[in-house]
Amino acid sequence: MNVIVGISGGIAAYKVPALVRLLCDAGHAVRCVATSHALEFVTRTTLQTVSGQRVYCALFDTGNEYSTEHIALKDWCDAVIVAPATANIIGKMACGIGDDALSTLLLSVQDKRVFVCPAMNTAMWCNKAVQRNISLLQTAGVTLIGPDSGHLACGTTGAGRMAQPEAIADALEAHCSPVTDKLPLEGKKVLVTAGPTYERIDPVRYIGNFSSGKMGVAIADAIAAAGAEVELVAGPTHERSTSARITLHTVESARQMYELATRLFPGCDAAILAAAVADYRPESYIPEKLKRQDSEVLTLRLVRNPDILATLGGSKRDDQTLVGFALETNDEMRHAREKMERKNLDYIVLNSLRDDGAGFGVDTNKVTIIHRNGSTVATPLLSKREVARRIVDHCLITPQKTAP
Ligand code: CTP
Repeated sequence: MNVIVGISGGIAAYKVPALVRLLCDAGHAVRCVATSHALEFVTRTTLQTVSGQRVYCALFDTGNEYSTEHIALKDWCDAVIVAPATANIIGKMACGIGDDALSTLLLSVQDKRVFVCPAMNTAMWCNKAVQRNISLLQTAGVTLIGPDSGHLACGTTGAGRMAQPEAIADALEAHCSPVTDKLPLEGKKVLVTAGPTYERIDPVRYIGNFSSGKMGVAIADAIAAAGAEVELVAGPTHERSTSARITLHTVESARQMYELATRLFPGCDAAILAAAVADYRPESYIPEKLKRQDSEVLTLRLVRNPDILATLGGSKRDDQTLVGFALETNDEMRHAREKMERKNLDYIVLNSLRDDGAGFGVDTNKVTIIHRNGSTVATPLLSKREVARRIVDHCLITPQKTAP
């Protein structure tokens, strides 16, 4: 493959020669495009030596082979890896800004596989604008690699460290190697909902729940790994997926999730609704911050949100599979079966809050998958990623027959 490594100005640029060497050793042709800040951290000579190619840095460099080098490079490459990707280059990519050689090249490679390896201080990584830009890039089909958590150059510890060169090289192979065997869900499209919903009370408060979005995102990843395209409608969550087969739609409230899910479902073969949707929202939004009242009691009137799962169940075609979740605290089987019946589901995944290690926030889960024919499969306590694989396998890859 012809691979461009785009280097922006972060300390992690010192790891890029190792990445270039790995890619070259794997048989790829590599060309480096660096920002001028990147060359403060890694020298042009080093990059030139490991790649065996000139380094492209300035748009109007007299040494450029072509006057429109960014277009020539776009035509040449099969994939682009931006490593390290600073908040600045991520922002430019998300906003479509081209003001130097790298950002201009990145504007032209929409039809190529693009990988972004963020590297920055934890506070910068958690910044809302950066997270919004990351979501925009993922929605546009860019694949995120990392960042890892650990010791950072600024002396702190946290998320923001660039993924290791080996992990970046592996991700490129995993995403770009030609598929020899057809994946089991290739050609299918699946809708997934994930995360909590936030129902605004006033500009600073909301009604929400403790859902982390881990289970839903793990399900989206498992479906994508099985070859299907995924429409992931996610409420507020920090969980991120790295598959290019996943189109991420971020929403905040139950009604926004409802709008998207009902619009996307007719074009899907299946849906797995793992979101913890708020059943009620404040009757009216208070536009100014609600002040402390004299009275000891404050009453908020809540109105019912639409039930997304039940709505999809009502419009479900025979060729569509619908899977819901049931989070129960007592009389679990009875409540789950009743929910499956009421919402016209093919499967319901029962989560009992009585099981240690299962439920919100934790990395593990233990579920019982119930089919509408009455059959059940229970998993032991496993990582949420493994539970997700089993749900996808049981409900979508090797589906049960309708009759027991
Ligand atoms: N769900 C949904 N829309 C809602 C409420 C729930 O799509 N407004 C979906 C969830 O994503 C989950 C399933 O319905 O797949 C079960 O959610 P749960 O809250 O357990 O069920 P409810 O129907 O709200 O029943 P209850 O709260 O009474 O247990």
